Amino acid sequence: MASGYRYFETVEKHAGLLGIGIAIMVSLGGLAEITPLFIRAQQMAPPANVKPYDALRLAGKDIYVREGCYLCHSQMIRALVAETERYGHYSVAEESMYDRPHQWGSKRTGPDLARVGGKYSDDWQRQHLINPRKTELESNMPGYPWLAKEALDPSDILARMRTLRRLGDPYTDADLAAAPAALEGKTALDALVAYLQGLGTTLSANGTLPDAMLDPSALEPAP
Ligand code: HEC
Repeated sequence: MASGYRYFETVEKHAGLLGIGIAIMVSLGGLAEITPLFIRAQQMAPPANVKPYDALRLAGKDIYVREGCYLCHSQMIRALVAETERYGHYSVAEESMYDRPHQWGSKRTGPDLARVGGKYSDDWQRQHLINPRKTELESNMPGYPWLAKEALDPSDILARMRTLRRLGDPYTDADLAAAPAALEGKTALDALVAYLQGLGTTLSANGTLPDAMLDPSALEPAP
C-alpha cells in the first residue's frame, strides 16, 4: 500500500486530527475570499465630489439612525432595470464611504431613499415627516412630530466630528470650528431634512454620476 494512503487513513480515523485539518482548510478558503475585499476597501479613494457630511447633515444622519428609519427604508439601488427605472442610477460604493454605519439595508416597507435628495421640496419633506398622511393619504409610515420641537445640541457635534476624523474622515480644523454655529437654532427636523435632501447627490453637483462610474453593462435585465 502506498505510504500516502496510510497517511490519509490516519487522518480519517482520528476525528480530532480530521477536525484540525478541516479548520485549516476552511480558514484558508475564507482568507482567499476575504483578503481581496479588504485590499479593495483600502484602495478605494473618494472621488473629488464625495465629501464627508457637513455638521447639519451629520446631525441629521444620526437622527435617521436613532429613529430607526432604516427599519423601513434601504439606501441601496441595485443594478436591476426594475430598480434603476424607479429610483435612478444604481448605488456605487464610493457614495456611502462616509456612512458609519452604512445604511444600505435590505428591508423596504417604504421606498429606497438612496436618491431621494432633491425629489421633493424641503417643505414637502417637513410635512411628510411630521404627518405622512398629509402628503400621502394612505401612508403607513409613522409621523415624527416631536422632531420639529427638538433643538439640536451644538456642543455634541464636535465630539462626533472629532471621532470621525480619528477614523479617517478628512474634516479640517475649519470644518470643526464652524460646526457648532451651523447647528445653532436648528431643530432635529431641520437636520433630518438637510440629510434627506443630500442623499444621492454627493457624486456631483447636479446629481449625476461621472462617466467613469457609469457602467451600463452592470445592469441586469428586469425579471
Ligand atoms: C414603518 C415603516 C416606516 C418607517 C419606520 C419610516 N418610513 Fe418613511 N416611508 C414608509 C412608507 C410606507 C413610505 C411610502 C408612503 C409615503 O410616502 O409616506 C415612506 C416614504 C418615505 C419618504 C418618501 C420617499 C419617496 O421617494 O417618495 C421619505 C423621504 C421617508 N419615508 C423618510 C423616512 C424617514 C426619514 C424616516 C425616519 C424618521 C422614515 N421614513 C421612517 C415607511 C416607513
